[in-house]
Amino acid sequence: MMRHLLDIDDLAPAELATVLDLAECPAPRPVLAGRGAALIFEKPSNRTRNASEMAVVALGGHPIAIRGEEIGLGVRETPEDVVRVLGRYHAVVGARVDDHRVLEAMAATDAVPVVNLLSDLAHPSQAIADLLTLRQRWGTLAGHSLAWVGDGNNVARSLVLAAAMAGIEVRLASPPGYRLDPVVVDAARALGGTVVEADRPADAVAGADAVATDVWVSMGQEDQSSARIDAFAGYRVDAAMMREAAAGAVFLHCLPAHRGLEVDGEVIDGPASLVWEQAGNRMHALRGLFSWLLGERACA
Ligand code: CP
Ligand code: NVA
Repeated sequence: MMRHLLDIDDLAPAELATVLDLAECPAPRPVLAGRGAALIFEKPSNRTRNASEMAVVALGGHPIAIRGEEIGLGVRETPEDVVRVLGRYHAVVGARVDDHRVLEAMAATDAVPVVNLLSDLAHPSQAIADLLTLRQRWGTLAGHSLAWVGDGNNVARSLVLAAAMAGIEVRLASPPGYRLDPVVVDAARALGGTVVEADRPADAVAGADAVATDVWVSMGQEDQSSARIDAFAGYRVDAAMMREAAAGAVFLHCLPAHRGLEVDGEVIDGPASLVWEQAGNRMHALRGLFSWLLGERACA
């Protein structure tokens, strides 16, 4: 059966652990030697485009980054036809899309493994990098706790599911109307995770080992900016909020960040911040993921 990664729970927990191990292989086998990876972007990207291209290079392959409008994804050709063709040239296709259903349509062809490089719904390659970052800091994942403060968005969804799969307790604090989809909370619990929904950020953060947030206005939501900025008042991660967390607690943000909105400069630029480690780990996570999709199960 061909495997795809549209969200993190397309992997079993043990498979996710293997991907994390592969992300740290000192000398990854060149499983993409002589092969290509097509990386489609319908939205802007700094980290994901560069990390995915360099991950492909590290595996000996040739990445081709493509803007959505360049190939007329869904306009000039259906997503299914696009990926059926790309599968004739490439060993893997990654795509950052406005609408998650485009990824589902691509994956349903089983023409080539499809990787979600961010959709409106999920950001699984970010979640792999985030777990890798936490594992490097803590040594282990199970038994730790993570507070998500802010929008119950695509990044939250994948991180909460990934945390549940890794045995990290999750505490959620989001304003009404911006909470994580209850279906995702149920899915995380069904994976064996502990998920606590808090009424106030301070309740979520109290004693947490990690505090994570993301932008209040995601790509494609620009027309909701002022309503969102109003709704998220009180959800900024600042030094006072970090003091409620456990001693030595870390701060996570997938970036790009807005200092003075969802996070204060003294937090993101301070000693608790792991944001640059997260950004760097995007490349290692994608390298581990691509090598897993190409059949690798252990380091050389
Ligand atoms: N974190 C992340 O996905 O960043 P980019 O949007 O720059 O790829
Ligand atoms: N939630 C953000 C993440 C960007 C990496 C967005 O979708 O724009």
